[in-house]
This record gives sequence, structure tokens and C-alpha cells, in this order.
Amino acid sequence: MPSSSARVNASFSDREVAALRGDFPILTRTVRDDRRLVYLDSGATSHKPTAVLDAERTFYEQHNAAVHRGAHQLAEEATDDFENARATIAAFIGAPAGEVVFTKNATEALNLVAYAFSNASPNEQPKDARFVLGPGDEILVTEMEHHANLVPWQELSRRTGAPLRWLPVLAEGALDLSDLDTLLTDRTKVFAFTHVSNVLGTINPVAALAERAHAVGALVVVDACQSVPHLAVDVATLGADFIAFSGHKLYGPMGIGVLWGRAELLEVMPAFLTGGSMIEMVTMERSTYAPAPQKFEAGVPNAAQAVGLAAAVTWVEAVGIDRIAAHESALVDALMNGLAARPWVHVVGPPPGTPRGGAVAFVVDGVHAHDVGQVLDDAGVAVRVGHHCAWPLHRALGVTATTRASVAAYNTFGEVEALLRALDRVPGIFGIDLDEADPDAGLGVGPDARAGSVALRGEATREAS
Ligand code: ALA
Repeated sequence: MPSSSARVNASFSDREVAALRGDFPILTRTVRDDRRLVYLDSGATSHKPTAVLDAERTFYEQHNAAVHRGAHQLAEEATDDFENARATIAAFIGAPAGEVVFTKNATEALNLVAYAFSNASPNEQPKDARFVLGPGDEILVTEMEHHANLVPWQELSRRTGAPLRWLPVLAEGALDLSDLDTLLTDRTKVFAFTHVSNVLGTINPVAALAERAHAVGALVVVDACQSVPHLAVDVATLGADFIAFSGHKLYGPMGIGVLWGRAELLEVMPAFLTGGSMIEMVTMERSTYAPAPQKFEAGVPNAAQAVGLAAAVTWVEAVGIDRIAAHESALVDALMNGLAARPWVHVVGPPPGTPRGGAVAFVVDGVHAHDVGQVLDDAGVAVRVGHHCAWPLHRALGVTATTRASVAAYNTFGEVEALLRALDRVPGIFGIDLDEADPDAGLGVGPDARAGSVALRGEATREAS
């Protein structure tokens, strides 16, 4: 593992990345007729270093017990491990431990907040009007959301009668803020948006958007799934009221996600799941609830996964999140430049030279993304194909599907080259006439494609019917 002490803004040297790859057993395996695995799908899930596997194994081998229950030594050790994990993860995002709630995944974390709003709304005596939604209120999202940060808000809209509105996306992958004042008003109770798009790679200006939202009294929920693993996120300065991220994209185990919320909001926010662990006192008629974060952690928690995620965070901190960000940025630049040199490929999202996250999605003229993915897979290159759980965004782009490469700390420039070499087989296999390819012709697919590096539909509809 490289040391983070030097060259904070430099990508890893070949020697450093080789050492770092040694922490990931899966990277030594082969796929498809003994080909070297080239894993460029970390936006979907990252691989796990040995330290994470060891931490989970040690928990089960040495300390396994149901946390916050039992008077025996194992229960005490398991509880300490779980709460220490919370403190480690909280410190990583600049938060006090009490502001970190463990969930099953980021989707559950986002649902938790959305359900808290609706649990405050009907027939309740809510502690805080900020969580009460009704037909006179509004919910604001964006057109670039992953379904996890869209469907829960659609459902909240359905349950409460508060209309769902959204910000459209501009041609080069940024949010269209021209109508922000019309869409974000004193009717808006919650503004939920992604920090980094899992398709476009766009990095949204969280602090500026949060400031606008707070000025009208709205709460700000940020999907940080694609930012926390890739760049330094400090909730003290980010501006959000809540962020959600998953452990499995952050070199940690599957089955654990994090909701961070400001303490004063967690205190007054209604519970989501109820049952054991989250109560203070129970009679046959009613219950009172424990303070946050326990109020939001009903049932025996995912302690081994929390311990594994803390080990992942410790690994990231030892490598250095700034160095990971610099390395990934250099990999993305190399990939963007390589794709730009192929006029039959059209990248969606910000143009080369614009800061972006670790995901690069593209379309090959006239070839379905699933076919592109198969050609890459035959060469041992793992990418994601489809709409990447962002179907409305793909509709706005005028495409049915894209091919997405996404990088992590362990990727190499050789792997970017391997993807480009495998991609070069696509035109021959699918009979693309390279002389006909026009780099300025837009995506060239979809009924609404128009000129530009990204072809978007003309006018986005902004209001849910
Ligand atoms: N949300 C993950 C992705 O973007 C799974 O691929």
C-alpha cells in the first residue's frame, strides 16, 4: 500500500499501484479463457482489500454477539467493535459519531429519510414542521438521479400529495439552474440530489445548491454514493443536511450503508423501521424511542459489516483519499482522451478537461451497449451496460443504454489501454464504417438526438403529472 505522506495530488506510480493491488485478492484471478481481469465497474461495486475480509472474519471468529444486548463479554466486545466502527466512519466524513446511522445500503438510507417525512405527515404530532409534507408543499429532485434517489421521493409525493418537481440536465451534463428560482421556492420542503452522477460523472455544486435550498427553508438530502469513495467529503463544509452512501462502493462489505444527518435533525426526525433496539420504553399501548442514532437502527444490526466498513475506511485513509482522487482523475483523463480520439464513440457528460467523478459512460454509434459490453467482456474487461438505474436521465439523453467504465484506486493506465484496445474491435465486428463516423454529430442514436457531445431532448418536462 502506498504512503499518503508524499505527493498528495499525484496519481500512483506503477510501483505504488502494484503494491496497492496486492491488497485485493480478486484482482489476481482470470476470466473468460484465462484472460487477466480488467475491472472497470467499481461504480457498481468496488473490490475489497484483505483488511476488510480479515476484519469481518475476526469479528465472527472472536467477538460474534448481538450488539447492544447481553451481559456477557462477547456482547461487550461486539458492541465496542460496532461503536468504534461508527466513530471511525464518522471521522472519515468529518462528523461526530452520533450523526452516523447504519443502514442496509444507501437506498435504505434514502428511504429512511423519505419515510421519515411521510411518517411525520399523517395523523401525527410531529416535533418539527420541517418534516411535515402535504399537497401545498413540494419535493425537488434532478433529472440525473439514480433511481434510489428518485423513486423514494416519487413515493413520498404519492403518499402526501406534495408534487415532485425536478431540475433538468444541460447538454454537457451539468444541471440546468436557469429556472432554479421557479423550482426551488418556499413551497419546497426537501431538495434531494446527487453529489456525483453515476452516469455523467458530473460533480454538482452541493454547497451553492444547499445555500439556495436553506434560504427557502428546504432540507437538503445528498446522494453521496459516487463521491465518498472518490473524493474527500467533509459534512462540516458540504452544506447538506443528510448524506447517504453505501459501504460496498467504498471498498467495504455489501449489506451496509450510511445515513449521515445533522444531530438536531436526527433528534426530531420520526423513526422509519421500528422494533427492538430503537426503543426507550415499551408498554402494551405505546413506546418511546431511544435517541439517534439508535432510534433509526431497529433490530440486531449489521455489526460485522460495520466493522468491515471501518476497516475499508482505515485502508482508504492509509492510502490517502486525496491521492486516490488524483489517481482516478488521471485515469479518467486518459480514458476521456482515448475515447475522444475515436469519432465513433460519444461520451455523455462533461467534456474532457472538466472535473468529473470516476464514471465515464459512452455510446458507440449504431451498436447497443449490451453488444459493446460483450465484446469488452470477451477481452476480460468488466464494465456496466444499460441505464445504470438512471432511466429518466438516459431518456433525456435520447439513448436507451450506455456503456460505463468506472475506476477505483487499484486501476492502472494499462487497464484503460486494455479497454480502448478491446473497444477497437467493436467497429469491425459490427460493420461500422469508420469513414462515416462524425465526432460532431452527437450521439447519433435515439429519436431525439441532436448536435453536441451529448444529445439531449429539447425541453424537459419539469413537473410530474
Ligand atoms: N448504483 C450502482 C451503479 O451505479 C450500482 O452501478
